[in-house]
Amino acid sequence: MLNDMFAGQILLTGRLKMLRLDTERERKRFLRPPSTGKSPTVSESPKSPQTSDIGEIRVPDIALNNGVMIPQLGFGVFQVPPEETQRVVEDALEAGYRHIDTAAAYRNEAGVGAAIASSGIRREDLFITTKLRNGEQGQALEAFHNSLRALGLEYVDLYLIHWPVPSQGLFVNAWQAMEKIYANNQARAIGISNFLSQHIDILLAQTEVVPALNQIELHPTYQQRDLAAKCSSLGIAIEAYSPLGQGTDLEAPVVVELAARHGATPAQIVLAWHLAQGTIVIPKSANSARMRENLGATSIPLTRAEMESVTALESGARIGSDPAVAAFSQM
Ligand code: A2P
Repeated sequence: MLNDMFAGQILLTGRLKMLRLDTERERKRFLRPPSTGKSPTVSESPKSPQTSDIGEIRVPDIALNNGVMIPQLGFGVFQVPPEETQRVVEDALEAGYRHIDTAAAYRNEAGVGAAIASSGIRREDLFITTKLRNGEQGQALEAFHNSLRALGLEYVDLYLIHWPVPSQGLFVNAWQAMEKIYANNQARAIGISNFLSQHIDILLAQTEVVPALNQIELHPTYQQRDLAAKCSSLGIAIEAYSPLGQGTDLEAPVVVELAARHGATPAQIVLAWHLAQGTIVIPKSANSARMRENLGATSIPLTRAEMESVTALESGARIGSDPAVAAFSQM
């Protein structure tokens, strides 16, 4: 059981918890079992070793379907300008984030890599995601190596197909290349982004590895509940992008009222709502105070009634592009 590999490997250094992996462990870390389709699980105990515990911040880890652990609250760099990315990611790492989400299409992988290199944080204490650009689905191996080079890394923790682009008819080919990357231990897990139900059906019918997660637009006013339920039943974890609705869901009166009741901020309430459902979230902020504020969501308990009041905000209105038709090649 891969989770067990981490047992006994925890060192507490001051208030900073680190995973120590000796050479043999480090080697075995990549010899993980094939994906089983088992449902992802959240570490249940708040004192579980499977948390990223930095100062007062305790970010729960989620077990993906191959046993790889992912910090449930990460930091996204979509729309962070390349020239600002190193500074922004350095701030995020300083604030306590250990999970960073980038993509080749964001053109800021090099800034993420520079921030990682300058942070002094050990590679095994970080969880780094990048994504295959739409226009490179036919050259996934080459694109992946370009991403590794830009990031200055030997492996990524998670590699995703950014969009299905059904009109290209290439995502199955791309996935087969990603299965090779996974088999070569250059990505600890592979997954998909923006895949709708019909795209998942095609992928599962024609390929071997069940995606570890599906990263989709998900926030209180746009929850994609049927898709999320389908993914859960297949053991595919859900990761929410635009978890704050790009800021728009923070103005909902119920969110503002809950924030006042909990002595929290609207962003913390929305993120706490995601976390309580087991969703992986990657809010982004260019502002270091808001980065820290968002990490604070991990300590806000919402009652069932409060959860339901946020869930009731569903409006069916997507902010981003529709994956059924989105075909931008620059992404
Ligand atoms: P900023 O970078 O100025 O903090 P999403 O992650 O859903 O895409 O939302 C990102 C948007 O939400 C950004 O415009 C970001 O602005 C804003 N944002 C992020 N965190 C907070 C917060 N804690 N309070 C208010 N706005 C936030």
